[in-house]
Amino acid sequence: MERGKFVTFEGCEGAGKSRQIQFVKELFEERKIPYVLTREPGGPAISEKLRAFLLDVENRDMTAECEALVYAAARAQHIEQFILPALERGTTVLCDRYIDSSMAYQGYARGLGMDYIAAINRAAEKAVPDVTIFLDLSPEAAFARKGGADKKDRLELSGMEFHRKVYEGYLRVCEANARRIVKIDCSGTKEQTRARIAAVLKERGIV
Ligand code: TYD
Repeated sequence: MERGKFVTFEGCEGAGKSRQIQFVKELFEERKIPYVLTREPGGPAISEKLRAFLLDVENRDMTAECEALVYAAARAQHIEQFILPALERGTTVLCDRYIDSSMAYQGYARGLGMDYIAAINRAAEKAVPDVTIFLDLSPEAAFARKGGADKKDRLELSGMEFHRKVYEGYLRVCEANARRIVKIDCSGTKEQTRARIAAVLKERGIV
């Protein structure tokens, strides 16, 4: 059986990632293509527990290295228990965030370095995305757009400087993986962004 396609979605806070993933889901449903939608941190129960631990505000003193290792641990479980079996069944896997998030947030913004992130994420070598959709919107633009009160709070919580660095990190990751990662300009309407993503998925033979 042909291995399923692996598609990941990346972007800074407030880029409209959740909304666009819903649109992609609709695309798969309309075309009756078998798929599963999952997210990181998260996926199987063990990884969801690690997600709760990572996102718990009581753990805000976690060091960068501890955080990076827990993200990697959650990912290793997700890959073995969920992503690989689905791909092997021939199902397309859509994943909200993946290793590029660790590269941008922990590797670049929190200063651990991309090599360190690659080293602790060896499990991800077994599941390299066929295509990664990077929703390209600067944190300034996201903040100006204030996509809902929750996003605004989140942006304010970690500070604009941090989000700037995450964005810079992403741009570097995009440059280093120019064939795999497609940058999608998200400065227009959500319908325009949706059409851009659909075109890329078509071009790459995903839908
Ligand atoms: P989530 O609520 O899923 O936010 P979003 O809608 O922005 O995807 O929270 C995920 C958070 O985890 C987000 O702030 C990015 C962060 N993260 C990392 O820092 N490293 C990682 O490897 C992953 C997967 C996520």
